[in-house]
Amino acid sequence: MLDLNTTYTEKFVASGELAAYAEAHAHVLARCQAGEERYADSQGWLEVDEWAGPAVLDRTERLAAELRAIADTFVIIGVGGSNNSARAVIKALRPNGARIVYAGNTLSAHELNGVLAELEGHDVVIDCIAKNFETLEPGSSFRLLRQYLVGRYGKEEAARRIVCTGTIGSSLEELCRAEGYTFVPFATNVGGRYTALTEVHLLPLAVAGADIRALAAGAKRMQEQLRKTDGLENSAWRYACLRNILWDRGYRVELLGFFEPRFRWFSKWWEQLYAESEGKDGKGIFPAALECSEEMHSLGQYAQDGTHQLFETFIDLMEPGAGDSLVLGGTDVADAFGYLDGKDFWDINKASFNATRAAHAEVLPVLTLEIDRIDEERFGMLFYWFAFACYASGSLLGVNPFDQPGVETYKRLMFEALGK
Ligand code: PA5
Repeated sequence: MLDLNTTYTEKFVASGELAAYAEAHAHVLARCQAGEERYADSQGWLEVDEWAGPAVLDRTERLAAELRAIADTFVIIGVGGSNNSARAVIKALRPNGARIVYAGNTLSAHELNGVLAELEGHDVVIDCIAKNFETLEPGSSFRLLRQYLVGRYGKEEAARRIVCTGTIGSSLEELCRAEGYTFVPFATNVGGRYTALTEVHLLPLAVAGADIRALAAGAKRMQEQLRKTDGLENSAWRYACLRNILWDRGYRVELLGFFEPRFRWFSKWWEQLYAESEGKDGKGIFPAALECSEEMHSLGQYAQDGTHQLFETFIDLMEPGAGDSLVLGGTDVADAFGYLDGKDFWDINKASFNATRAAHAEVLPVLTLEIDRIDEERFGMLFYWFAFACYASGSLLGVNPFDQPGVETYKRLMFEALGK
């Protein structure tokens, strides 16, 4: 189950106004549901089966099993859209497969020394994931780790332990052919941040032991709902409409709040998706994570009492799963927390969430994305839901949700400084 509860926004956006806005823009939803010729090179993700169908899942599981047979540690060398989705699921669910180490997302010598230290005493495979193979972080980490593997295993054995996921015809593919590395093709018609349901992430997830079939099934279920449901019954469309009404009213920041820290890395995925998709042409809501309850002691002050430019979307995990119950016993010590005797942390956390939402809803629009459980299937649903909503929301805003021209300027200056 995944649904959007908008009860707490009605004070700010009347239901009649929302309905009129949705109706007036119904053609945008229809376009997003069908896909558009002008974005044909970026919309392979709309149809889950195109890059996560049965043949892909079989092939991915086979390769993952081969890699797990020779390694207990798998290094994801990727940044942004090339590591965020896999990391979101792996960090949240901690599946029982190979240990995953993250590289290719930093230029810090300290961090990279830490990565090398984490590999000692383990059997290692690396996967360099790079759509363009021009990005500095994965390119430099790949060289570092390639050299590490060759030094440790010799050239021939190192080659067995190197996988690259890259664009067909790219210099990365050429390098793989020349050196004998395994090459996995990057989905041709999907941009980096929309690749959650492609081999880019399915392979690391399968190596980590996650159930990629459940992930694909969840996404497909969401696809069927969102591409067929019209009007405000379509929850992703409702989210897209509300975001744009709020944008028109001067709301400039959206906080994605969650009381389960397991969503921490998912929120990073969400930040990238919305920042790169909408932040352009002088427009776009700034997306920022609100990890609760910790940040109620920092950002919470601003949300409650600061400038009225922000709104919140909370992810509410509705049902406790395994490990989600912990009762706090009573004590003879007068510690001033006697009111907690015998209470379950699940309920304490819920009380904190309900209080936060009630308090914030007094002063700012609050949306709640309700989800019954946290597992691979739900992550598939979440990835599809937010991606579809982002496409719709960016379209309503009048920007191209699939490009990211703004990141080129710093790259040009950086490459000049490095003598590229
Ligand atoms: O959405 C995008 O395309 C980007 O954010 C990329 O995912 C990110 O820059 C990484 O690109 P690459 O895989 O080419 O290194």
